[in-house]
Amino acid sequence: MDIKHLMNDRFKNLQGGLFLAVTKADVGEGAGNFMKAGGDIMAWADPFFPDPAIPESVQKALHEAVDDGFAAHYSMPIGDLDLRKTLCEDVNKKTGLKLDPSRNMLVTPGSDSGLLFAMMPFISPGDEIMVPDPSYPSNFLNGKLLGGVTVPVPLYEEDNYQFRMEEFEKRVTDKTKMVLISHPNNPTTTVFRRESIEALCEFVIKHDLILVSDQAFQDHIYDGIEFVHPATLPGMWERTLTVCSISKGIGLSGFRIGYVYTDDVIMDVLYGAAVNVIGASSTLSTIGAIAAVKDEEILKSHYVRLERRRRLAWESFHDIPGVRMKLPESGILSWLYIGDLGTSEEVANRIMNDAKIMVNQGTPYGAQGEGYIRIVTACFARDEDAQERFDRIRAVLMKMAEEKGLK
Ligand SMILES: Cc1ncc(COP(=O)(O)O)c(C=O)c1O
Repeated sequence: MDIKHLMNDRFKNLQGGLFLAVTKADVGEGAGNFMKAGGDIMAWADPFFPDPAIPESVQKALHEAVDDGFAAHYSMPIGDLDLRKTLCEDVNKKTGLKLDPSRNMLVTPGSDSGLLFAMMPFISPGDEIMVPDPSYPSNFLNGKLLGGVTVPVPLYEEDNYQFRMEEFEKRVTDKTKMVLISHPNNPTTTVFRRESIEALCEFVIKHDLILVSDQAFQDHIYDGIEFVHPATLPGMWERTLTVCSISKGIGLSGFRIGYVYTDDVIMDVLYGAAVNVIGASSTLSTIGAIAAVKDEEILKSHYVRLERRRRLAWESFHDIPGVRMKLPESGILSWLYIGDLGTSEEVANRIMNDAKIMVNQGTPYGAQGEGYIRIVTACFARDEDAQERFDRIRAVLMKMAEEKGLK
């Protein structure tokens, strides 16, 4: 019996890898089996993975919470008040906004669920969601899961992946409801410059749209590049949902704590559905997250380590014949053009087979990702351990360049 005829069109064509060999690096047994067989994963955007990475101040808070015992119980579905206060203080300090912890802040079990939840009140079947391409893969699927239509809007390497507004203008229709950006962008690490963000916000206002700004990578911006928060621009606060995380910059992805902040008219609706959609985030993680956000040394020391790491990565890859790589502008990723050596799939598979390292093919990040691979260069706690993997990847790419006659 084909049970799928009972499924809706949004879900029935999804594949998780049970019935075919899915090479997708991000989920499932494929990655687990690869690790068990001794392979290394540099495909999960998770700083210092798989090494121990809970800062001391956070460990202390967790130990106390376990001793105290209250962590066995639910926290509030919209998020524990102390955590919401801590997050609001942090955001207010960094943005100049005046978030009220009881009206503008929602804690979610990771920002992935926050991203989908942020879209739910707005997307009806047939609504169109513009998503820059390349972008975080979930951002292409979320709209479809809600019955909407994802409209990729190309970004170009020659523009340093900034927005080309004519590409948005020519795709806007009377069904367009939302623009969903990842800022800084995953996978390219691009920080959208003030000019780009202002132009996008004008477009959002002109066409009466909602902006969802996925800022999971906002914590580490390099080279003094200005980070503009779209929610702070004129006319944007009441139509922007900002989605953030402690997974990337603070490096506590296993805690599964994200947060959404927005205007109280929108937040009232999200609070109304929170218990159904979210349940509540983990109480133990909440206690750890409060300690982590309060301890400003964590971000500072991670910044130094991650900034050094992006340079090591750039030094390891940028001069390989047939490869192009810019020094990353933010975060923990490297985005390499490898199109002269093979397709994304060929090159990622070759690295997996020959170097025993899983990196990401560029194609899940959108059509513009063909010819690129993404490497999570912040994996491993020690630079030496990361460098050893970079050297193995470099050797494979050099070999491929030689085979193509580029060396
Ligand atoms: C751009 C971006 N946004 C959001 C997420 C979700 O992260 P989390 O659910 O751990 O907060 C990720 C994870 O890789 C990401 O890359």
